Amino acid sequence: MDSFEFNKIAAAVLVVALLVIGLNQIADSIYRVKKPETQGYKIEGVAETKSTAKGEIKKEEKLADIKVLLATANVGAGENVFKKCAACHTNVSGGASKIGPPMWGIVGKKSGSHPEFKYSSALAAHGKAWSVEELNAFLYKPADYIKGTKMAFAGIAKDEERANLIAYLSTLK
Ligand code: HEC
Repeated sequence: MDSFEFNKIAAAVLVVALLVIGLNQIADSIYRVKKPETQGYKIEGVAETKSTAKGEIKKEEKLADIKVLLATANVGAGENVFKKCAACHTNVSGGASKIGPPMWGIVGKKSGSHPEFKYSSALAAHGKAWSVEELNAFLYKPADYIKGTKMAFAGIAKDEERANLIAYLSTLK
């Protein structure tokens, strides 16, 4: 009876041990099958979409409709933001060029059209008028928007800040 009891316990232990090993192996094989899959997608896929398609989507997502933003923009705050530009751009009527061309009347003005300023060939070839939408895209990331521009300015990432600035630029006329 004693040894039979012992055998039962031993058998139970064995069954449990087998179950644990079995479950481990099942879990392991699931894990092993899954891991390479997700890694393959995550590392290559995400890296790729980030540098290509996703980068563009992100840009468009971030660049909310400037007209909507302008509805609540603050010209006074925008004048303050212009301090970032003032080292290179004048903001007064008849203002001269500094490192960059003057900003008087910039909204609606044809890009690269200030007669006394020597533009980069990239900006000279841009050939669009500075609508609020164009300014929004350019000021978000100048070097991305007009590749080869010599405007050495990183850009303004915040929608609200850009909108305030563009609202202020619209008053320079
Ligand atoms: C470090 C100097 C510098 C700063 C700071 C700077 N810019 Fe410029 N900007 C330039 C230069 C240089 C150009 C001419 C770029 C070219 O020819 O490619 C330019 C061109 C421009 C143009 C195109 C003008 C045209 O006649 O087509 C706009 C608009 C503009 N800047 C707006 C701004 C605003 C707004 C800011 C502030 C947020 C700013 N820039 C900050 C140097 C600067």
